[in-house]
Amino acid sequence: MKRTHTCGELTKKSDKKEVVLQGWVQTRRDHGGVIFIDLRDRYGVTQVVFNPDKKELFKTADSLRREWVVEVHGKVRQRPEGMQNKNLPTGTIEVVADKLDVLNQAETPPIEIEDRIESSEDMRLKYRYLDLRRPVMQQRIIARHKAAKAVRDYFDSKGFLEIETPMLIRATPEGARDYIVPSRTCPGKFFSLPQSPQLYKQILMVSGMDRYFQLARCLRDEDLRADRQPEFTQIDIEMSFPEEEDIYSICEGMLKKVWKDVNGISIKTPFPRLTYKEAVARYGSDKPDLRYKLELTDVTEIVKKSDFEVFKKSPLVKCINPEKDFGRKDLDKYSGFCISCGAKGMAWTKVTKDGLEGSITKYIKPDLQKEIIKKTGAKAGSVIMFIADKPVIVNDVLDRLRRKLAEDLGLIKEGELNFCWITHFPLYEYNEDTDSWSPMHHIFSMPHDEFIGNLAKDPGKATGKLYDCVLNGVELGGGSIRIHKKEIQEEALKVIGMNYEQAEKRFGFLLNSFRYGAPPHGGLAFGFDRLCALLNGFNDIRDVIAFPKNKNAENPMDGCPSEVEPEQLKELFIKTELPKSSKKE
Ligand code: AMO
Repeated sequence: MKRTHTCGELTKKSDKKEVVLQGWVQTRRDHGGVIFIDLRDRYGVTQVVFNPDKKELFKTADSLRREWVVEVHGKVRQRPEGMQNKNLPTGTIEVVADKLDVLNQAETPPIEIEDRIESSEDMRLKYRYLDLRRPVMQQRIIARHKAAKAVRDYFDSKGFLEIETPMLIRATPEGARDYIVPSRTCPGKFFSLPQSPQLYKQILMVSGMDRYFQLARCLRDEDLRADRQPEFTQIDIEMSFPEEEDIYSICEGMLKKVWKDVNGISIKTPFPRLTYKEAVARYGSDKPDLRYKLELTDVTEIVKKSDFEVFKKSPLVKCINPEKDFGRKDLDKYSGFCISCGAKGMAWTKVTKDGLEGSITKYIKPDLQKEIIKKTGAKAGSVIMFIADKPVIVNDVLDRLRRKLAEDLGLIKEGELNFCWITHFPLYEYNEDTDSWSPMHHIFSMPHDEFIGNLAKDPGKATGKLYDCVLNGVELGGGSIRIHKKEIQEEALKVIGMNYEQAEKRFGFLLNSFRYGAPPHGGLAFGFDRLCALLNGFNDIRDVIAFPKNKNAENPMDGCPSEVEPEQLKELFIKTELPKSSKKE
């Protein structure tokens, strides 16, 4: 390397040193005939000074523009008192240049290379190489690298082997749509790209690998959100012979190390646990944000006895008490919010020292009002907000209202981390549209003992050895103890309407492997991108992925997905029949 130092390295100690720096011109300033540039690289920024007495050098320095790549030779000197920048590690020195080589020029960048920029998402993704030059983005990518290293070091120290699983596979049943890849050598046949390494990691347990992990790339063709990308990374884990407790403590240890190594923060373990039922009852969600209370109260049985028809008819009535009073305008705003979330409306009452007040209270007798006040623990001077509907709607709307209230009321303390485990998930959920059951997680999770042998009797009641790890209301990871016996797997599949032949066709290779001594096993996968985002204190995973896709699952930088040459399609025996709107003019 020609450079002697990086742009983040020189300090007072380097005074009078002859140095060579290489980097990008961040700014050029002409201060009364002296030119200053801030030279930037991944490591920091160093101020370089060009004096007018060296005419040629000064002329070249004067021609510099933003983002030109240059090499500077010069001597370090301390900045005069009053000119020092305490916010920069290199802020007490500057390099007085005696040679300057322009290594490359640059056109005016279409986005600003500054941390404060507010460029549009598409511009940032189109010019991702410039967006990634921003120090804040570089710090995020560095933190991601450190997190990956901490994960690898941790699992290595616990005897886990990192094993790669294939990318061209038979479909994995994680529930999203597959990305598929046509096979040239087997015309008319397709590979799927893995939604996760689920089946392969289970097979690795049958192979006797005992402890597996992988930073695994996963691909899912699903609708995107801030915390979802079509291509993402999991910290994928599987163990042989584990109890649920072993998985919890291994994972807690990993998260502890990651937060310590990357952020220097000690997180408290063990994490609190809640069953799925408890979480939904108290917070309306299986990924509750426990940084604040705002618990929900079920008042169905009380309001059934009222004369308020909406409450009487609804299968579930729950309420939230923000421990605060709101004016009419705010209540209308929250009501509108609930309607936009799918509720038919939001009823409210005010709590006074004499009982409840508000338009619906005339239908609720004083003794029932007292019962509501007692059950919610609401104090005079606050409101109570009610949602009445089917359980899925009530819980979903109140979950969202709870999150909104917490934000509006400023209940979230900056930097607070609140991990928890959610356990005892139902194995199946009912789909009204298709009148069928589908797995809540995936179909390989072990039912609790009492349900084995009678799963089909009441699938909605059956719970399994499933667990999710939740941080600040975000599902960070999920997994289960697996079914390792062929008979139980077949029973579980029958509930979702899959007979042996269908199962055999889709993942017969897993069922077959179970015939040859499959050990009890279990595991979990963390969303690595979500983990990295939360390490940075935000939820949007696009900012911790070097080259993410946009909301339409496209990459504006390389322009994928794109058409392919007709010859390529011909070779694959593929003809396309596009909907009219997407046909090329
Ligand atoms: P699951 O489907 O719950 O489980 O995924 C595990 C974790 O991966 C993350 N995740 C995603 N992150 C970004 N973009 C996405 N589209 C996306 N989808 C999921 C989440 C989630 O908690 N094979 C099982 C794990 C197991 O049972 O061991 C699985 O993939 O953080």
